[in-house]
Amino acid sequence: MSLILALTAISLSTAANALPAQPGIDWQPCLELNRNISALVGVEGTPFDCAKLSVPLDYTNPESEPLDLDLFRVNATEEPVLGTVLINFGGPGGTAAENLPILAAELAANIGEQWNLLSWDPRGTGKTIPFDCRIEDPRTTISTRKRDNDVLVSGNLTERFLNGGWDTAGVIADACYTAMNGTGSYIGTAFVARDMMEIVDALGEDGLLRYFGWSYGTALGSYVAAMFPERIERVVLDANVNPHDYQIGHYGEAFVDADKALLAFLEECLKNKDECALAQYTNANETADLLNPINQLLTPVASNASTSTEAWSSFTGIQGIILQQLYYPFNWPTLAETITNVLNGTDTQTAGAAPEPMVEPYNLGDPWATVGIRASDALWRTNSAQEYLPQVEYQNTVSSFNFPYESLWTSARWKMDAKERYTGDFRVKTKHPILYVNGEYDPTTPLASAYNGSASFEGSVVLPHSGYGHGVLVSPSECLARHIQAYFKDGMLPERGTRCEPDLGPWEQARARAEGTTGGSGGNTTAEAVTSSGSREIISRVLPFAGALAAAGMSVL
Ligand SMILES: *[C@@H]1O[C@H](CO)[C@@H](O)[C@H](O)[C@H]1NC(C)=O
Ligand SMILES: *[C@@H]1O[C@H](CO)[C@@H](O)[C@H](O)[C@H]1NC(C)=O
Ligand SMILES: *[C@@H]1O[C@H](CO)[C@@H](O)[C@H](O)[C@H]1NC(C)=O
Ligand SMILES: *[C@@H]1O[C@H](CO)[C@@H](O)[C@H](O)[C@H]1NC(C)=O
Ligand SMILES: *[C@@H]1O[C@H](CO)[C@@H](O)[C@H](O)[C@H]1NC(C)=O
Ligand SMILES: *[C@@H]1O[C@H](CO)[C@@H](O)[C@H](O)[C@H]1NC(C)=O
Ligand SMILES: *[C@@H]1O[C@H](CO)[C@@H](O)[C@H](O)[C@H]1NC(C)=O
Ligand SMILES: *[C@@H]1O[C@H](CO)[C@@H](O)[C@H](O)[C@H]1NC(C)=O
Ligand SMILES: *[C@@H]1O[C@H](CO)[C@@H](O)[C@H](O)[C@H]1NC(C)=O
Repeated sequence: MSLILALTAISLSTAANALPAQPGIDWQPCLELNRNISALVGVEGTPFDCAKLSVPLDYTNPESEPLDLDLFRVNATEEPVLGTVLINFGGPGGTAAENLPILAAELAANIGEQWNLLSWDPRGTGKTIPFDCRIEDPRTTISTRKRDNDVLVSGNLTERFLNGGWDTAGVIADACYTAMNGTGSYIGTAFVARDMMEIVDALGEDGLLRYFGWSYGTALGSYVAAMFPERIERVVLDANVNPHDYQIGHYGEAFVDADKALLAFLEECLKNKDECALAQYTNANETADLLNPINQLLTPVASNASTSTEAWSSFTGIQGIILQQLYYPFNWPTLAETITNVLNGTDTQTAGAAPEPMVEPYNLGDPWATVGIRASDALWRTNSAQEYLPQVEYQNTVSSFNFPYESLWTSARWKMDAKERYTGDFRVKTKHPILYVNGEYDPTTPLASAYNGSASFEGSVVLPHSGYGHGVLVSPSECLARHIQAYFKDGMLPERGTRCEPDLGPWEQARARAEGTTGGSGGNTTAEAVTSSGSREIISRVLPFAGALAAAGMSVL
């Protein structure tokens, strides 16, 4: 189907990347997996084909055993087909198998219909050396904390850190070392970047990378661009992780816009007063009228959280539900209903209740791949609580949302280094400049991180937008789609200072989805069919991985 002729295949000799060139990718139908995934996520996904690609398990060893990567492809829907765009779905730890079929239509709407979309289960996820630390429920290892904060009632992270959090981080690091000693060090972002180049070579197109990275996929994009600058033809990084923070391992600025995102939800609720259950219930005139009852709900749970593991789970569970829904503006009306149901006593389950676990999980690396990939990549190690404390004090000021920071603190106490870790400063000139896209109200990947990443990649441009949520896929914008498509097709970068607006506000978007007419660039996709039926479990289906992690009390970007 690909009409691109093999141009000069640029094959950079990289360290010990000595396996013979792949003869091509042998795509096969995989109807049973298509069906299984559809059943798992509860919606008919876009049909995809499957392939295996053999890559070196250990790029530092010329004699390495092979590793079979699972590849997935959704075909372009318009001729002429221009080539293949690689996709990563974030986490780290998200699988391609689960995310590609349900997000393919949104991806194509933004990237362009003339590209084949290819994704793969990165090391540590799916069936590819799944990361599994064999700790049953991370919440059981979590102890106490409390505190009030500016917006949302919050816990005192410093107290949590000193009273068990740091120890928990060590327990996790030990358990993962025992469970993954042997294969853990083959899992890491630098090797994944090399896997991407193996895929590009095997495609037999022009040997250049075309890539759309979302969330953690932006960290991966920074790594691959810094390691292989001459092979970067198109890289779009959407919903950005600060690459330096990721590399060090503490996600310092990740949550700086989380409270802003919550306030935006409240403002939009007020603007759509007649259709916002929470505004109706509270008879609100200002955002404080909406926020106060939420905080009244959280306060007793927060205070009990210092003495009870169960209350702690409830507390972070409620906060986690709110945070997770801030990812998806079209679910904001549902979020307002969920909160109202809790306030008016209809819903006695939400506080602390997690979505049903999936019966037959596909992703065998869930949830530990998230912790393990970040940690094995991290350059900053210390076993001294005292040395880490200033970072915790900073994290404590970033947002009133309480994140399961234990899983990030673990990075410092980790006992396995990935065999290869990128240690450079990202200061490179790529063959073609990178395009950064970022929302101004993203709860976990703030606009500041896009500017931070862009600062070191010569010629790159940041395209900000005022859409809510986590990434362009959840907040369609004709303006963004136009710029992203022009970039992939012709390499056009927006003029500096360009800024996009979303096509629809959250309540309009929800309405359009319910009616099956999304407007904008979204199209009537399977993901929308799911999301329009509205329920918080839906979130765990739209992005199965994110939902499952939220349920496990862990943060996923
Ligand atoms: C599909 O799911 C069934 C169980 O429901 C399992 O036996 C089978 O191996 C799965 N097939 C694939 C290709 O994942
Ligand atoms: C994708 O395109 C190829 C080549 O035309 C075709 O063989 C394959 O069946 C298509 N796959 C799907 C899932 O439509
Ligand atoms: C958090 O706890 C620490 C240690 O007990 C304390 O020094 C600090 O004042 C507390 N911060 C807030 C905002 O309550
Ligand atoms: C990890 O593996 C190495 C080499 O096989 C072994 O020497 C070491 O004792 C193992 N450590 C743990 C904690 O299992
Ligand atoms: C909002 O204003 C109306 C009219 O002044 C008033 O009746 C109502 O109590 C106010 N709502 C709240 C939550 O204060
Ligand atoms: C908090 O703990 C007290 C005492 O154990 C209990 O009476 C109360 O119901 C708890 N509140 C919540 C919200 O869990
Ligand atoms: C609680 O709020 C929900 C959402 O607005 C509404 O559907 C339900 O009827 C309310 N229940 C009660 C008992 O007020
Ligand atoms: C990017 O972030 C890192 C880590 O927080 C910081 O040290 C660096 O100064 C930032 N760079 C820019 C250009 O803001
Ligand atoms: C959108 O998808 C739904 C569910 O498959 C379908 O019922 C509806 O007719 C579709 N709407 C449009 C406009 O295609």
